[in-house]
Amino acid sequence: MTGQKKTKETLRSARWFAPDDLRAFGHRSRAMQMGYAPEEWKDRPLIAILNTWSDAQPCHMHFKSRVDDVKRGVLMAGGFPLELPALSLSESLLKPTTMLYRNMLAMDAEELLRGHPVDGVVLMGGCDKTTPALLLGATSMNLPAIYLPAGPMLRGNWKGKTLGSGSDAWKYWDERRAGKISDKDWVDVEAGIARSYGTCMTMGTASTMTAIAEAIGMTLPGASSIPAADAGHIRMSSETGRRIVEMVWEDLTPQKIQTRKAFENAIVVAMAMGCSTNAIIHLIAQARRAGQDISLADFEIASRKVPVIANVRPSGDKYLMEDFFYAGGLPGLMSRIREHLHLDCMTVTGKALGENIATAEVYNDDVIRTVKNPIYAEGALAVLKGNLAPDGCVIKPSACEPRFLRHTGPALVFDDYPSMKKAIDDPDLDVTADHVLILRNAGPQGGPGMPEWGMLPIPTKLVKQGVRDMVRLSDARMSGTSYGACILHVSPESFVGGPLALVRNGDRITLDVAARSINLDVPEAELARRRAEWKQPERRFERGYGWMFTRHIKQANEGCDFDFLETGFGAPVGEPSI
Ligand code: FES
Ligand code: MG
Repeated sequence: MTGQKKTKETLRSARWFAPDDLRAFGHRSRAMQMGYAPEEWKDRPLIAILNTWSDAQPCHMHFKSRVDDVKRGVLMAGGFPLELPALSLSESLLKPTTMLYRNMLAMDAEELLRGHPVDGVVLMGGCDKTTPALLLGATSMNLPAIYLPAGPMLRGNWKGKTLGSGSDAWKYWDERRAGKISDKDWVDVEAGIARSYGTCMTMGTASTMTAIAEAIGMTLPGASSIPAADAGHIRMSSETGRRIVEMVWEDLTPQKIQTRKAFENAIVVAMAMGCSTNAIIHLIAQARRAGQDISLADFEIASRKVPVIANVRPSGDKYLMEDFFYAGGLPGLMSRIREHLHLDCMTVTGKALGENIATAEVYNDDVIRTVKNPIYAEGALAVLKGNLAPDGCVIKPSACEPRFLRHTGPALVFDDYPSMKKAIDDPDLDVTADHVLILRNAGPQGGPGMPEWGMLPIPTKLVKQGVRDMVRLSDARMSGTSYGACILHVSPESFVGGPLALVRNGDRITLDVAARSINLDVPEAELARRRAEWKQPERRFERGYGWMFTRHIKQANEGCDFDFLETGFGAPVGEPSI
């Protein structure tokens, strides 16, 4: 406990309900209109529960009942819960890409909190972008906040074989294209790959971002690893509700938790987990909201010293999040990399990280490896730079065939996704396994929204010859459950005239992960000539949200936040004045 700092008089919600004036009269009478007796809410912390449940969000189906467990906890601790529905971003159903809407949910979260009479918040999310979005909003608003991760779904199952979200979809899709799987088997894979509510159970973006939320100190210890369908998840939900009430009295805000050291911890944990490449973008955005200067360089430093020890697919070879939980979960993993962590960082428990994991253990050394016996000797991600990506790009060496870590090959360029999709099935496509497949105009502005197109399909002609990995290069992102020699997030993106826009078929490209370099072997004079000829493609949206998005989105290396949402843009907004 950090001691009581708030009194019933200084609760934020008291501004709405306590004064003897006409406005407060209105607020009180409307609370009573909802059947809330003054004895139930007067002088108590009012707790917002931002719930990203929807009928079109398979990963959060259980939030419809989990929210009652959170409310039970809030009530038991002497608070009063107010469930506020927030935009629900389903990674699997929402088109064209949830990344287009991460910042919209961040704005939704921030403004819901700003406008309502609440003192603290439980953030209910988990599916990919929902975690960073809710945390971005809560960070900017800076009320006491705690994160409740949805938890991973159960392992997939087909004919007694374990199936992993995403990763096995890509794998069996290639087998199907190669003619090795029947239609009946394909339908059975479809039915068996997602067996319960909860988030993708591979080390995709969801498991990565919820682990990061825990490492930063924004969840209860162990919360991010508990499978959604485990009864422990229900108990953790009510405990989260109980804890946020105390956090309000302690005035334990995100600003006090999200220090530079906390973000360094998050990066170290991400590297050891074999994280999704998306972690880079979201963590940079979140750090910038918290006023911390985190950049690609911080990832590069961690990547050189922290090995991947979570043997969870796709970096690992066979296990999934359910196994990770049984093996000790995130506290277990953090206990193994203790010496890389700042153990004095404050967390939502009111205690330091070191205290939270003091008794953590690992129960299975094959699932959570020791640092001496890692899955991959360096961190999960590597940041490359060179004349093709002056502001950096990202590769996940732990999830690609090692022979591609150093590679030179000719470029085969696609200007957009539809033309790539059409060409890839062409039996006469002029392509070899040595080619570097390039997709451009798929970045933050070009996509727009940086869709997860970066794991370009291997041309069908080559799949039939047994090829399963190639070097692929784009300004897009890829799903955290994807794998292969995919170089992503090339910055600046091609749509704004980054060097990727200048590549032509047959140009030679050299990638060297050990040297952290990516270069286009074309003389500068020729590049200058091409640059002079280059014209920016037409923007796709001329009204609405897309119009605002393409004009205000920042580049991948800066976190893809809207410029006007970043800390330091204009004067702070503060509290509503009337
Ligand atoms: Fe929701 Fe993967 S689709 S976490
Ligand atoms: Mg994903």
